[in-house]
Amino acid sequence: MIFRQLFDSVSSTYTYVIASRRGGEALIIDPVLEKVDRYIQLVEQLDLKLVKAVDTHLHADHLTGLGALRDRTHCVTVMGERSKVDVVSMRLSEGDKLTIEGVALDVLYTPGHTDDSYSFLMQDRVFTGDTLLIRGTGRTDFQNGDARAQYDSIFNKLLRLPNDTMIFPAHDYKGETVSTIGEDRAFNPRLQVKSVDQYVDLMNKLNLPNPKMMDVAVPANMRVGLAQEDIARRGWAVSAAEALSLAAQPGIVLVDLRERGEREKPRATRKRIVFYCAFGERSAMAVQAAQDAGLASTAHIHGGIDAWKKAGGPLLR
Ligand SMILES: [Fe+2]
Repeated sequence: MIFRQLFDSVSSTYTYVIASRRGGEALIIDPVLEKVDRYIQLVEQLDLKLVKAVDTHLHADHLTGLGALRDRTHCVTVMGERSKVDVVSMRLSEGDKLTIEGVALDVLYTPGHTDDSYSFLMQDRVFTGDTLLIRGTGRTDFQNGDARAQYDSIFNKLLRLPNDTMIFPAHDYKGETVSTIGEDRAFNPRLQVKSVDQYVDLMNKLNLPNPKMMDVAVPANMRVGLAQEDIARRGWAVSAAEALSLAAQPGIVLVDLRERGEREKPRATRKRIVFYCAFGERSAMAVQAAQDAGLASTAHIHGGIDAWKKAGGPLLR
């Protein structure tokens, strides 16, 4: 397995690159915008193909690298279903798997630091975002943070993992790189509480200043989506309502770009091709690539299957 922990010293963010083998698919967790060149260089040096970029939650202290990585590598952008970002390609919920070739991470919904915080479990290690830090926990005083929910996420989900599970957080401010569940249960000062009320009290008394980047990072990170409007202006999009009527006609092929797991939550010739996916993001990329390749009769469903559903479109399983 290939596993790299990268550090952004400006925001003290850890970013992780994971792949099952040289020459195979890779995923990246919590990339920082300013470091995107370095990630791409590393991925190339290791002969990897970056296929997914994931954020554990909406970050307030740095600009996410999700959009830039998507634009430069055509990777799929991934966040949890509770995220309020405009568009990411794929949204995961608790119990789902985050998969690439040879690697499957279990998705845990671990709110508290924010209401869109997720952790990702990969056998002997867990990526905890800002839910559980090394000898600390993520603050809970903004972005719909909730100390009570965080207590539940930590004590009833993360601390139930085997003691030797390694903790890889999204940040560390003291140079620590890794801990384990057993170690932090014993030595994390925030976890030495007798009750949820005591934890809430502890968190409410922290009185931390807001992150310097917060006013810039939060609104910017909300808008990581590909500009589907540009695709629409070029005439390569059909509305969900148009797609509905097109679907009934002969000579139309709808191409589903979703993964099997996404499909379960809810068949080219000279025919006209209409791409669709979950939110219109991947299909916008697909139609761009198809148009670049000279397939002039291609389009995509603006807003994806999400918009299709809202327009009353039927779902076949
Ligand atoms: Fe955070």
